[in-house]
Amino acid sequence: MSMAKDRSSIFSFQYFCYVVVILSICSIILSLSWSHCCSQCHSPYQALVQKQNLPINLLSYPFAWNHLVFSSEPPSKLLKIALFVRKWPHKSRAGGLERHALTLHLGLAKRGHDLHVFTTYTDSSSTNYSFNNLHFHFSKPSPAGYLDQASVWKQFQAENSSGKPFDVVHTESVGLRHTRSRYVSNLAVTWHGIAYETFHSDIIQELLRTPQEPQTKALTERPVKVVEEVKFFPNYAHHVATSDHAGDILKRVYMIPEERVHIILNGVDEQVFRSDVSKGNEFKKRYGIPGTKSLVIGLAGRLVKDKGHPLMFEALKQIIAENSSFQESSMVVVAGDGPWGARYGDLGANMLVLGPLEQAELACFYNAIDIFVNPTLRAQGLDHTLLEAMLSGKPVMATRLASIAGSVVVGNEMGYTFSPTVSDLKRAIYELWISGRDVLNKKGQVAMQRGLQLFTATKMVAAYERLFLCISGSMHENHFCEYQP
Ligand SMILES: *[C@@H]1O[C@H](CO)[C@@H](O)[C@H](O)[C@H]1NC(C)=O
Ligand SMILES: *[C@@H]1O[C@H](CO)[C@@H](O)[C@H](O)[C@H]1NC(C)=O
Ligand SMILES: *[C@@H]1O[C@H](CO)[C@@H](O)[C@H](O)[C@H]1NC(C)=O
Repeated sequence: MSMAKDRSSIFSFQYFCYVVVILSICSIILSLSWSHCCSQCHSPYQALVQKQNLPINLLSYPFAWNHLVFSSEPPSKLLKIALFVRKWPHKSRAGGLERHALTLHLGLAKRGHDLHVFTTYTDSSSTNYSFNNLHFHFSKPSPAGYLDQASVWKQFQAENSSGKPFDVVHTESVGLRHTRSRYVSNLAVTWHGIAYETFHSDIIQELLRTPQEPQTKALTERPVKVVEEVKFFPNYAHHVATSDHAGDILKRVYMIPEERVHIILNGVDEQVFRSDVSKGNEFKKRYGIPGTKSLVIGLAGRLVKDKGHPLMFEALKQIIAENSSFQESSMVVVAGDGPWGARYGDLGANMLVLGPLEQAELACFYNAIDIFVNPTLRAQGLDHTLLEAMLSGKPVMATRLASIAGSVVVGNEMGYTFSPTVSDLKRAIYELWISGRDVLNKKGQVAMQRGLQLFTATKMVAAYERLFLCISGSMHENHFCEYQP
């Protein structure tokens, strides 16, 4: 009896040793191969699939479609597409969801698809385009400012039964509500923030709350919102997540079948946002940024609380107070609008507050800085400013939110991430300051490679076009749903 016991423990000890040896060999092999494969290969699985040249069923492809390569040839089939979006923005002045709607659908119209936009009234200069395959169907908003579902559905039905029916329907978030979307099978919804992600922002805001501020209701109400979403999301046939993290939540927490969840990361116009050293130098001259500054930090966007500006303000204030050489050697350039603009201006002589910039000027701004910092506390959607900075060849530093750390700043070779606390943000600013311009330039090159591979508007448009082609037909013998590496 005891013999047997001893033998079995000897055996299991030997077995344990074998496992340890095998595991360490594996990890050495893995780390060697990982150091070669950098940002191109997303995971061992993806590398395997692509190496073996096996066709991929796109609908169940588990990674961002941005990693795939789509032909730039004109589409072999033109689609009639309906878009539901609450508001169509003015050219170049939009962020977030509206910006996504604009970039994507103008791109699809440019490729020849017949676009019908169902949206609320806007001024005519915002919808003055030269395409004749881009049509607007305006309606009066509901009292809460949403699309009036009864009106837009009537407009949609009328257009659907006149001439050609729609091949595919796209809704930006709940533009088309689930009460109607349930009747459409060739439909995709793009989510720019789901309640489960927003919960992280609620937690951060609560931790940063001063004793004078009241606790927000959001913190306690959010879980109820998550449950509501889990219940109504299945009424949308296909879901597009704008980050890897959101895709995971939709599949795992919201329990939507994986062949109905697709990840397509946001893209920005690579013709506008690109590396151009001379534009950067001209920008520096125009705004009097001295060449003696060894570090130029850029901030842009809405200068409001939920974009993390109180945090950034406090971190800079403390660094300026404790280290005089920071003021002398660096410059912080702030582009954007909001209450924190004036406060930054009062911080010190190395702060340059410019107010909001037009898109072309913003492109020059990115070229003039050494690093772009985005201290956002909003965990939802995928921030466009980070992508613009990367396409301009600049490293980025951002809050360690799951969407950013999982899809954008995936490693320190392209930038920095920090936890949303003053002390960790300070640590990160000191770190990048000490790294210096050469290191930042190198990271900027890596950031640009990643940006050009994943975050161009062309890539985003191509991925959506392919998804729409795939879900517009019968999905079984539809060759658009198959991808040949
Ligand atoms: C639309 O654009 C054209 C040319 O760009 C311009 O001549 C026209 O005045 C614009 N119309 C409106 C309503 O803004
Ligand atoms: C649009 O029209 C087609 C063809 O008549 C029809 O099969 C389809 O159900 C219509 N879509 C909706 C959502 O009513
Ligand atoms: C300021 O920071 C620089 C760079 O990290 C460091 O060399 C210097 O000692 C610091 N000075 C003070 C007063 O903390």
